[in-house]
Order: sequence, then C-alpha cells, then structure tokens
Amino acid sequence: MKTLFSIFVPVIFIGFILSPGLPGNKSIQKSGSFYTAEAKKVIDSKCYGCHSEQGRSKDAKEALMWDSLPNLTKSSQVATLDHIIKVLKEKKMPPEGVVKKYPEMKMSPEETKVLQSWAESMADNLLKK
Ligand code: HEC
Repeated sequence: MKTLFSIFVPVIFIGFILSPGLPGNKSIQKSGSFYTAEAKKVIDSKCYGCHSEQGRSKDAKEALMWDSLPNLTKSSQVATLDHIIKVLKEKKMPPEGVVKKYPEMKMSPEETKVLQSWAESMADNLLKK
C-alpha cells in the first residue's frame, strides 16, 4: 500500500503540472482591444492554461501572464512581445514535453502565423506611439 501510494502521488503531481494549457473553459479575462479575436483564440487554446492564474508552473507565470500584459509599461510590453515572437519562431512553446504528451497542444503553422503577426504588429504600434 505504501509503495502504491509513493508511485501514485508523483504521477498525479506530474499530471497536474503538465495538464494546464489543455483546452477548457479558460480564456483571457479582460483584454479590451489589446488582443485580436484571432490571436485570442490561439492564446486561449494553446497558451493561456499555463500563462494565467490557473497555471501551475511558477516559471511560466513569471515569464508571461496574458491577463496582465496589457497593463504593463510600454517597454515591458514590447519586451514581452519580443519574447513571444522569439518562442514562436523557435517553436519553443508550448513546451516540447507537453506537446509530446498532448499532441492537440501542438501549434499549427496557421496558429503560429496568426499569433506571430499579432505580436509583431502590436510591438510595431507600441514603438510608433
Ligand atoms: C504547459 C505549459 C505551457 C504552455 C501551454 C505554454 N507555455 Fe510558455 N512557458 C511555460 C514555462 C514553464 C515557461 C518558463 C520556462 C521556459 O522558459 O521554458 C514558459 C515561458 C514562456 C515565455 C518566456 C520565454 C523566454 O525565453 O523568456 C514565453 C514568451 C512563452 N512561454 C510564451 C508562450 C506562448 C506564446 C504559448 C502558446 C503558444 C505558451 N507559452 C504556452 C509553460 C507553458
């Protein structure tokens, strides 16, 4: 019984860490016009679960919170958008291990394009202001 317990707990724990980000009824809270409908759809289904209050990884939350991004200073927004563009170009997000376990989390080329061009034009606009 004890052995069973010591196997189960880590398995459940790891499952918890990896499960956020899966599609569910999670969505960016208040975003105003910051996110286009297209970009929001991709974020909600592929990124929001980890990079939001629901996220269970402290690292993910420290790296990016979609709900607070619109309220950051202009320079922090541009810096974050640059990081987003970079991870999309390098196909670093969602993390490889998660995509392996949950193939539905894989970004399609269209989704990558939508999110990347949103981030690029957002960063451009911020720099012009
Ligand atoms: C399963 C959880 C998970 C999902 C889903 C996820 N991320 Fe992440 N993300 C993380 C973690 C954990 C980190 C911090 C560790 C790291 O950088 O690898 C991170 C870091 C980042 C960073 C900072 C990287 C850097 O180099 O500064 C960005 C930007 C990012 N994620 C964007 C995204 C985008 C965009 C998506 C959706 C396409 C996404 N993430 C989906 C877990 C996730």
